[in-house]
Amino acid sequence: MLWPEETTRNTAGELTIGGISAVALAEEFGTPLYVFDETTLRNRARRAVASALAGGPGSRAVFASKALELPRILSILADEGLGIDVVSGGELFVALHSGIDPHVISFNGNNKSQQELREAIDAGIELIVVDNLHELDLLEALTRDRVKPVSVLLRLNPGIDVHTHDKIATGVLDSKFGFPLWNDDAAAGVARALEVSGIALKGFHTHLGSQLFDEAAAALAIEKIVEFAAQMREAHGVEFEIISPGGGMGISYHEGMPEMDIAEWMGGVADTLERACARARLPQPSLVFEPGRWIAGPAGVAIYTAGSRRDIDGIRSYVSVDGGMADNIRPALYEARYTAELANRIGPDDRKTVTIAGKYCESGDVLIRDIPLPPIEPGDLPGRSGRGGLLHSYGEQVQSRAQACCRARLRGKGRAHQAKRDIRRSAGARRDELTRSTFGVK
Ligand SMILES: Cc1ncc(COP(=O)(O)O)c(C=O)c1O
Repeated sequence: MLWPEETTRNTAGELTIGGISAVALAEEFGTPLYVFDETTLRNRARRAVASALAGGPGSRAVFASKALELPRILSILADEGLGIDVVSGGELFVALHSGIDPHVISFNGNNKSQQELREAIDAGIELIVVDNLHELDLLEALTRDRVKPVSVLLRLNPGIDVHTHDKIATGVLDSKFGFPLWNDDAAAGVARALEVSGIALKGFHTHLGSQLFDEAAAALAIEKIVEFAAQMREAHGVEFEIISPGGGMGISYHEGMPEMDIAEWMGGVADTLERACARARLPQPSLVFEPGRWIAGPAGVAIYTAGSRRDIDGIRSYVSVDGGMADNIRPALYEARYTAELANRIGPDDRKTVTIAGKYCESGDVLIRDIPLPPIEPGDLPGRSGRGGLLHSYGEQVQSRAQACCRARLRGKGRAHQAKRDIRRSAGARRDELTRSTFGVK
């Protein structure tokens, strides 16, 4: 699915999303503009929530909020039954200030600070996914006097190549994430976790990477984790309640690219878990899936305004727009490819190959390389599909401009204004958070 469900053209040839003209939205809010369709978000959230039930009692899906961290959107997704996964104190702050119940929040990441862990514990979140021994040391100090232990999972790295871009492969041998399963590190992690009286080790987590289309890799990871869980039961006499295979379900960003069937993916993981547990004679843990871009990506469209143009004979034609790597780092970071159409008109039909460049002073600031589009004039509105992954949380830190260029369209005008306020509040909250942690202000 390349565009939000309700995307079409009106009689003037303008792209409409959920019945609202992209041109009218661009006039009202300015560009660069990110438009999200609530119907698409809700439908995809529902599919993820329903598919996760394949894992049996207690199994669930949580939204990896790094994919799109906006208060109104987090509350829509939570309303549909998704938990929320965060990867920083800033994301935790935004989730809590969006009214998300702490009991459905989990905290991932490879270098959580003492302050971040303290805030997560104080908020009473559901699960902390521990990445390394350093975090266990921090947790030991933070939970020393606790009566009720803090629930944790250990993130494991199974060392599996998932054939995605190497910058988004996380379960491979050469990775900064998780306790390696191919040496003694993971067993040492379990032994250490069991020593810390203030935490309760509930099970294991892994995340193999993003844009995954290989279901066999997820199945192999589950088999390795169950085998490890059986060894740990043998060594320590403990059984585990939860296994999280992470997220990473691939989506389509351009014609010809497939989309992962989430029900098939989750169902396949659940079947593998059942078989592996039966083989190892382990009680079956529940599954916690962490989709991010699969939910948010196809719900969004980015609209820019075209400006200057450079035609280099025999080499390339660049059309520059008023956004770029500050609002979407993915093409520059890992060569993500998108599709686009003109949002303000249809034709003419004689398409020319152009490269949509961003406005930032980096040669790498290119949004889409070599895409056939109708001839573009200054003032045209190229609309790019499939927002997917890393907009607000990453872009904002590249340049603060992303704070100003993100707007949302949710059903009805009142909602759009509410979303606008939410985004300002989220940007403000993040700034407050950064200020507080930078200057140690309480
Ligand atoms: C730990 C973890 N879980 C889930 C996700 C979500 O991945 P995706 O958006 O590809 O589904 C990520 C993304 O990097 C992640 O790091």
